[in-house]
Formats: sequence, C-alpha cells, structure tokens
Amino acid sequence: MSGPTPGSLDGGSLKALVDVDRGVVSREIFVSEAIYRQELERVFARAWLFLGHESQIPRPGDYLVSSMGEESVIVCRDASARIRVFLNSCRHRGMKVCRYDEGHTVEFQCPYHGWSYGTDGALVGVPFAKDAYGAQLDRSRWGLIEVAQMKNYKGTIWATWDRSAPSFEGYLGGYKLYLDLLLDAWDGREGGTEVIGGTHKWLIPCNWKFPAENFSGDRYHGVSHRSVDMVGIGPSGKGRRDMGERNQARWLDVSFPDLGHSMIAFLRPHDAPLAPAYQDAPIVADYFRHCEEERKRRRGAEWRLFGGPGTMFPNTSPLARQPRTIAAWHPRGPHQTEAWRWYLVDADAPAEVKDFLRQYYIRYSGPSGLTEQDDMENWNYAHAASRGTIARQYPYNYEMGLGRATSAFEDHGLKLPGVINDVTEANASEHNQRGFYTRWRQLMEAESWGEIATP
Ligand code: FES
Ligand SMILES: [Fe+2]
Repeated sequence: MSGPTPGSLDGGSLKALVDVDRGVVSREIFVSEAIYRQELERVFARAWLFLGHESQIPRPGDYLVSSMGEESVIVCRDASARIRVFLNSCRHRGMKVCRYDEGHTVEFQCPYHGWSYGTDGALVGVPFAKDAYGAQLDRSRWGLIEVAQMKNYKGTIWATWDRSAPSFEGYLGGYKLYLDLLLDAWDGREGGTEVIGGTHKWLIPCNWKFPAENFSGDRYHGVSHRSVDMVGIGPSGKGRRDMGERNQARWLDVSFPDLGHSMIAFLRPHDAPLAPAYQDAPIVADYFRHCEEERKRRRGAEWRLFGGPGTMFPNTSPLARQPRTIAAWHPRGPHQTEAWRWYLVDADAPAEVKDFLRQYYIRYSGPSGLTEQDDMENWNYAHAASRGTIARQYPYNYEMGLGRATSAFEDHGLKLPGVINDVTEANASEHNQRGFYTRWRQLMEAESWGEIATP
C-alpha cells in the first residue's frame, strides 16, 4: 500500500481542489474518474472500513458478504468461532468464491474449477490435484487473501488492507465517545446492541461523498424534510417523542479534522427533567423512560449527551439517535454509491419495543424510508447537475461557520473531546464537512500511512 501512484494528483493540485481554510471545494473531486481511482487506492485500500455486525454471524460457519471499496469480501466465523475477513476472489482465476449475501457453510467452493477453501481461508480442495499438479502445488501459499487487520468493536466488524495503518483504537481516537453513543445500550451499559432485520442495500446515482458528508454534519437541510415533518414522521416527528427525545437540546457540530470523523451531537440542558412518557405506545414510552433513568445513574455528567448523525472516515455513518442505524456508502464508480444500512436495537429490549423500532426505522430510513428518500433526491440531482463541462468549473461553498470552532468545549463541568462548533445561535455550520475534507486531502496526498500524522 505504499509507493507513488502513477499519475496521481500531488499535494499542490489537491490543495487547489480542496481549500478547507477558505471553505471552497471543487466539484472535480465528486465527478473525476482519475480522482476516484486515487480514492480507491489511497483512501479505501488504507482506511478502516465497516463490514457488518457479529450478531449476523453468531455460529461457526456463518458468513456474510460485504464490501471494501469496490471489492467483495467474505466475513465469516471459522471453526474456532474466530471472525475472519477474506477477499472474495479465487486464487486460481479470480472467480467470486461466494455468490450469496449470507449463509452457513463448512467451505467455500469456487464455482469455476472447484477449488475449495475452509472458513479459515485455507485451500483445502483442488479437483484432480494429484493428476493435474503432481507434487507441485503448495496449497499453503494459495489460500484466500486475508485483510491485514480486523477488529470486532462492541459487535461491529471493521478491517483494513493496510498493515501499516494505525490500530483500530488509534484510528478511532477521541471519536470513541461518540461511536459508543451508537453501540452502547440505551440505558448506558457498555455494548449490548444487536442488528435486526438484515441489511438494506440500494443504489444511489451520486458520488459516495454526498451521503458521507451529509451525515457528517449537514444540519442545514431541514427544508428538504419539511413534508415528512409536517405529517409528524420526519426528523422532528412524534416517533422521537415516544422514545424520550426532546428538542430543547443544545446542538454541537463535533469534528476530529486530524482523523476525519465527525458527528452532530446534542446536549440536553444540565437541569433538564427526564423526558415525559407519552401514552400512545406505553410499553415503548416506559422502556425509554426506564433507560433514561438508568443512563442518568450510570453515565454521570455524560448522561446529557446524545448522538445524532455522523460519519466515521471515510464511508461509515453512525446515526446514534433514533432511528439507531449504521450505514456504509460503498463507492461504485464516481457516479454511483451502493448504500447499506443496518438497524440496531438493545439486544435485551422487550419484543414490543423492537417491533415498534423496526416499523419506525423502515418508515424513516433506507429505500422505503420517507426521510431518507428526501436526502437521496438531493444527492441524485446535485450530482447530475455537477457533472457537466460548465458545472464542474465552479466550486461548492463550505464557508458556513468558519472560524467559530473551539477545542476546549465545556458545559456545566462536562468537557467533550473533539473540535466543536456550538451551533446554538448559528443553527448550523459546515465545520464537520471541512473536517472530513481535511482528512480526505491528507490521505489523498500521502504515499503511505507513515507520512500522515495520526494523533
Ligand atoms: S477460478 Fe476458482 S477454481 Fe478456477
Ligand atoms: Fe436528511
């Protein structure tokens, strides 16, 4: 993963395209084929990427097929229950050895000539091996290609192809506090979440950075969701009140520009009473009320902090409020994104609560979700309208909230990590998007991890 990429854009050209200090970003980075190829090599082949959740593959032999950049990978539990991640490509002629989305198996047999691989990646079967190869084939050298590093973090599975990439903990850095808002139980216990209902997968005709930067911190697009809000099922709808969410929180744009991660977090007033339990769905309301009491007891000063949408660089977006989901924006060429979304619930929540959330999630997010459909319309048309010969000569504007951020945020004794733009008065900023593109440019410029400072 090191060494210069032939024909790659150097630091000077990238700085001209992405000027975060002035808040100006060229449309080229969304539509250019050359930049896209460089992203696959310098971002997606190096970064830690989210692949799936351990609750999807509970038993040895369970597997799911996921994606790293454009490439298909198998995520499976081997016979010893260890989670392994392999490139989904046969070592003989490259055939996709697993063509299902998920399942259970003792081995992966290549459909082309029949080589087969164990769930530990070892080449275990070669048709007519003795006659065809004699003693020549050294099977130990021809197992499936395995990722360089893999991490199971509170049930979420991550991997990178780059041996020299920082550890997952180093890559996550201070963002841990915010990612944990998604992965810890709603009542403040560590971990305890599971995926329900499989994975939604769909195509959006836009560059992968449209959804990644929108989730990183676009609080400015409320107008897009006005119709769903008017009928009470949008971002400020009644469903959230049932789950104890209220709107008088203080909104914070939290960015880690030297990591690329960000989140819109919200902070309840320090003297906020517990949210009232709405009675339309009493079991649900009681559950969330109970969680809030427990959370307050367990989390101390941090109980007031809730997560909104965010993006963990480059292409994973936790949405740590309700709907509680995690998305991966898989690049499929400069002009297309394959969106995958997983839905999380507390593993030990009552069945009524899980069912309430399942219906709320489907109505809100994913291809059937009315709120997410609003977003997709924007990305779809924005991308198409940015591709043309004339359009791509004019940059986008990211000036909102420039120069307002602080890395010493404190509120009634609660200190929070990250560079924070308190958007209470301004209502919104593009602080998080600028952080995302700061890191994007660093990775695109650097020829190896060795050149990039990771705090
Ligand atoms: S391509 Fe897999 S066995 Fe030939
Ligand atoms: Fe949106």
